[in-house]
Amino acid sequence: MTQWPMRLILVGAGKMGGAMALGWLEGGLAPSSLTILEPNPSNEIVSLAASRGFALNPRKSAPPDVLVLAVKPQSLDSAASKIATLADKRTLVLSILAGKTIVNLKARLPEARAIVRAMPNTPAAIGRGVTAAFASPEVTAEQRRWSERLFGVVGAFHWLDDEGAIDAVTAISGSGPAYVFALTEALAAAAEKLGLPAELAMSLARGTVEGSGELMRRESATSPATLRQNVTSPGGATAAALAVLQGEGGLDSLMERAAAAARARAVEMAG
Ligand SMILES: NC(=O)c1ccc[n+]([C@@H]2O[C@H](COP(=O)([O-])OP(=O)(O)OC[C@H]3O[C@@H](n4cnc5c(N)ncnc54)[C@H](OP(=O)(O)O)[C@@H]3O)[C@@H](O)[C@H]2O)c1
Repeated sequence: MTQWPMRLILVGAGKMGGAMALGWLEGGLAPSSLTILEPNPSNEIVSLAASRGFALNPRKSAPPDVLVLAVKPQSLDSAASKIATLADKRTLVLSILAGKTIVNLKARLPEARAIVRAMPNTPAAIGRGVTAAFASPEVTAEQRRWSERLFGVVGAFHWLDDEGAIDAVTAISGSGPAYVFALTEALAAAAEKLGLPAELAMSLARGTVEGSGELMRRESATSPATLRQNVTSPGGATAAALAVLQGEGGLDSLMERAAAAARARAVEMAG
């Protein structure tokens, strides 16, 4: 079993950082190994620090084995002077900052050598995230295993061979939960247009998306195409809807355009 890093500092315990910290503690990271630096910790983080006994905002910290950066990308510059002293040449810097390249990070962390740039997504908060990551050439085999462990406890994990692929990952799984929620909203709006009351419309839409996601998870050996066909009798109501959804200018081309727009914006933000 891969060991956890002996010392880990998390900088930024907001939505994503906080969710990961919770996952690490539940997954077996010793509280004594964890330090969190967060100027405005949530009540949950404060009470977790008290009950589990990890360090929250200590006055001084030496460079750890792993420094996880989870501040907003726009906060990186203001945080840089503080975090620069936390990364030496032995530290693995693990960044989840959207749009911040390894070159950007090295410019702010002059001592850092090994950097992993990762893109998780919000279902990590319930241990069901998907993360893909790229490692700089200096990342050692042990540091790779730490990364796999730290993201593995909050969901599925994939390595990328090319840093540029992060922008495509951002467009698919990073932003993807928003697409699924937008689909739920659209389904509820369509239900209202068909005359159903608002509350029932939303309940049907939510239940359908939740149940279909769970079915797809449990039937992981069955492709989504087969699961779709299983609901679609020839000439029936579902087939009539799919003729619209999968017709000219339908879901496939819409999704392709949406993902291309997300990737273009991610590239633009990386500068
Ligand atoms: N949410 C997503 O879907 C998602 C997906 C993939 C990647 N990410 C990446 O995850 C990162 C965090 O996103 P988030 O949604 O978790 O944001 P968030 O909830 O705003 O969390 C960021 C946290 O960092 C804190 N912070 C700011 N400056 C700091 C400093 N100098 N030292 C320590 N902590 C500091 C913030 O405190 P204040 O509130 O006081 O500023 C905040 O609590 C972003 O870089 C984003 O690109 C997010």
